[in-house]
Amino acid sequence: MSKLWAGRFQKGSSKLLDRFNASIPFDKELFLEDIQGSKVHAKMLANQGIITSKEKDEILKGLDQILEEIKKGKFEWKIEDEDIHMAIEKRLTQLIGEAGKKLHTARSRNDQVALDFRLFVQKSNLEIVDLLKKVISTLLTLAKNETLTLIPGMTHLQHAQPISLAYHLLAYASMFKRDIERFLSSYERNNYSPLGCAALAGTPYPIDREFTAKELGFKAPTLNCLDTVSDRDFALEILFNIATMMMHISRLAEELILWSSYEFGFITISDEYATGSSIMPQKKNPDVPELLRAKTGRSYGNLIALLTVMKGLPLAYNKDMQEDKEGVFDSVETAKISLEILEKVLGSLSFNRKRMEEATKIGHLSATDLADYLVQHLNIPFREAHFITGKAVAKAESLGKDLSQLTLQELQEVEPKITAEALSYLDLKNSMNARSSQGGTAKKEVEDQIKKLEEFLNSL
Ligand code: ARG
Repeated sequence: MSKLWAGRFQKGSSKLLDRFNASIPFDKELFLEDIQGSKVHAKMLANQGIITSKEKDEILKGLDQILEEIKKGKFEWKIEDEDIHMAIEKRLTQLIGEAGKKLHTARSRNDQVALDFRLFVQKSNLEIVDLLKKVISTLLTLAKNETLTLIPGMTHLQHAQPISLAYHLLAYASMFKRDIERFLSSYERNNYSPLGCAALAGTPYPIDREFTAKELGFKAPTLNCLDTVSDRDFALEILFNIATMMMHISRLAEELILWSSYEFGFITISDEYATGSSIMPQKKNPDVPELLRAKTGRSYGNLIALLTVMKGLPLAYNKDMQEDKEGVFDSVETAKISLEILEKVLGSLSFNRKRMEEATKIGHLSATDLADYLVQHLNIPFREAHFITGKAVAKAESLGKDLSQLTLQELQEVEPKITAEALSYLDLKNSMNARSSQGGTAKKEVEDQIKKLEEFLNSL
């Protein structure tokens, strides 16, 4: 059977062209959206008297049958059909005859593909948000038990100040909260229907775009058809949102990898989510976080690829834009499976609290607290207090101790005015709990952060 657009052509197209030009091998993924859009379009055409109600019923029945065929794997995908839109329309006409030929009235593949793809992206935004919610809620469950578990807070990957493990986990929960907000704001910004824009300029038929927009779950029709058929911002946004989220995941993954090393020994990844070595029988490898870390690469690649495809395109639709889909499908799939497995890995972690606590006794983590004590109790200017504390650190080093382990006498050898109160400043748990400014690591602050994150989840 010849192409649906073959009227003006004398020769059939070459097989090579079919292979090069077709999007059907990948856009068949949009079958649900394509059928959903066509059904609503047919209903609108009938409401507006553009086709008869009988024709509409035939179309709807035919489309349902096609849906079944696809779901059952009985639909015949042919490269000559070029894309999902023509494949379905052709099959519809085979099934129902003349009425099938009317479905494309007042529509073009340009608004059709813009619709299908946008529906897919909108659905994906919400699916990813659901998975992100689960990750945050698992982080919160973990954090609740760890508000007094000390770990060394780091800067430059060097021990800096004692913080709680809960606080560290909540930093990631906060990143994922921003991710959710980004996906939802993209969803809102793009919640407008392209259907009815036709090829580029609208259509002379008396269509009802408000009706189709509402039926398809959009807020309203888009504003300008010329823009709509050439707009892929919604796709770029989900690619950016995924790339940023994967960057967050890669940072968490990196810490899981470090923390599960012998050198840190902070966590044990459950056997279910770890792998062995084919040669070294003793090995237990963190393959899952490593892959999570690596998958950031393809999600950045997909974003840059589509930005590049869109750059410099004249209005309106250009075939270049057919290159928009594979990267988005890949990024969405990557995002979903990554979130799913991340949640499982986190949920099955075991924390080696003793090891964490021991690590906080390395690196003089309460040095800032001693300086604060000198300022607050002895009225010494901060810069000087910093210097005296430096001396105390040097003393501890010379004794092979951590600053928090110095006795009062040893401290007084550095600065005779130091009183016994200094010892409580040096205590690591006190140091952690002293950071009680808003957003800090103190237990009560961390509990407040947990509460706020729970409220956020409940508000969604
Ligand atoms: N397969 C095309 C795509 O994915 C559908 C739109 C084709 N429109 C056109 N005028 N050739 O972009």
